[in-house]
Amino acid sequence: MEKFKKIAVLTSGGDAPGMNAAIRAVVRAGIANKLKVMGVLRGYKGLISNDFIKLESTDVSKIIQTGGTILGTARSPEFREPEGRVKAYENLKKNQIDGLIVIGGDGSFAGASLLSREHNFPVIGIPGTIDNDLFGTDYTIGYDTALNNVVDAVDKIRDTATSHNRVFFIEVMGREAGFIALRSGIACGAEAILIPEISGQTDKLKEFLATRGKTRKSSIILVAEGKKESSTFDIAKIVEKEFPEMDVRVSILGHIQRGGSPTAYDRVTASRLGVAAVDALLNDQRSIMVGIADNDITHVPLNKTVKLHKKVNEHLLEIIDLLI
Ligand code: F6P
Repeated sequence: MEKFKKIAVLTSGGDAPGMNAAIRAVVRAGIANKLKVMGVLRGYKGLISNDFIKLESTDVSKIIQTGGTILGTARSPEFREPEGRVKAYENLKKNQIDGLIVIGGDGSFAGASLLSREHNFPVIGIPGTIDNDLFGTDYTIGYDTALNNVVDAVDKIRDTATSHNRVFFIEVMGREAGFIALRSGIACGAEAILIPEISGQTDKLKEFLATRGKTRKSSIILVAEGKKESSTFDIAKIVEKEFPEMDVRVSILGHIQRGGSPTAYDRVTASRLGVAAVDALLNDQRSIMVGIADNDITHVPLNKTVKLHKKVNEHLLEIIDLLI
C-alpha cells in the first residue's frame, strides 16, 4: 500500500451527469487513504500537455449535484497514437503519479488499456457515459439521468402529440447502441422503438400503424441515433408516404439528454465506483474497470470492456412488444 502516494483522476469522452460525484468520491477516498490526489484537465489532452491541478477535499465540495465535469473533457486523437501515450506517461512520471483513474466510456478505456499495457502503469477505469454500452457493468454513470431527461422531454411531447393526433419520431442518443431508447421507451409508454440491435423494425412499425396505431390518439416512436435501416428523417418520410392521413413530426432531442443535475441513483453509483476505484489501486489492480453487476462491485479487465459487446436486455425487448 505504501507504494501509492499520489494518484491522478481525469474525465474523458462525452461528459455524463454524475462524473463530478465520481471525482468527489475519488478525491475524498484518496485523501482518507493518505494519498495526494491530482486532477488532469480536459482528459487525455491535459495528460499530454501536462495540465495537472492539486485537488483537496474542499475543491470537490458541492459538486455532487452538478452535471458536466469540473475537470473538463475532450476526445484526443493524439492519445490514439503511441507517441501521444509516451508523452502522457512521461508527464505522469514527471508529476510523480503512482496510479491513474479514468472516468469515461469505451473510447476512453481503449486508450487507458493501451497506456497501462505499453508502460506497465496502473490505470483503473470508472464507467461514465450516458450510453450504458460498456461490457462488464450493468450501469454506467449518467445513464439514469439521461433516461430521466428523455422521459421528461417525451412526456411533454406526448401532450402536444395527443392534442394534434400526431405520430412523433423522437431520436435519442446512444451512439451505436439502443440502451437509452429501449429503457426510456418502456418508461414513456412508447408505441414503438427502433434500435440498431434489431433488424426489420420499419416493417413491424408499418404493420402497427396500419392496425392498432390507427386507433391511438398519438404515437411516440423512439428512435436510437445509431446505424439502422434508414435515418430517422427517412423513416418518417416513408411513413408519411404510406400513411398520408397521418400527421408526422420528427424531434431530435440532442445534447439536452446529457445535461442537468444527476439523479440520486447516478450520484450513489458514482460515489460507490469512485471509492471502489481507489480501493482497486491500493489493492494492486493494474488495468481494470470497476463496474456494477447485480448491485455488487465488479472488476473487469479494461481490454475486455473494449473488445466484448454488451447485449440489450432480452426481457425488456419482450415486454416492450407486449405493452404497446
Ligand atoms: O457517448 C455519449 C454521446 O452523448 C453519444 O450518445 C453521442 O452519440 C455522442 O456522445 C455525441 O458526441 P458529441 O458531444 O461529441 O457530439
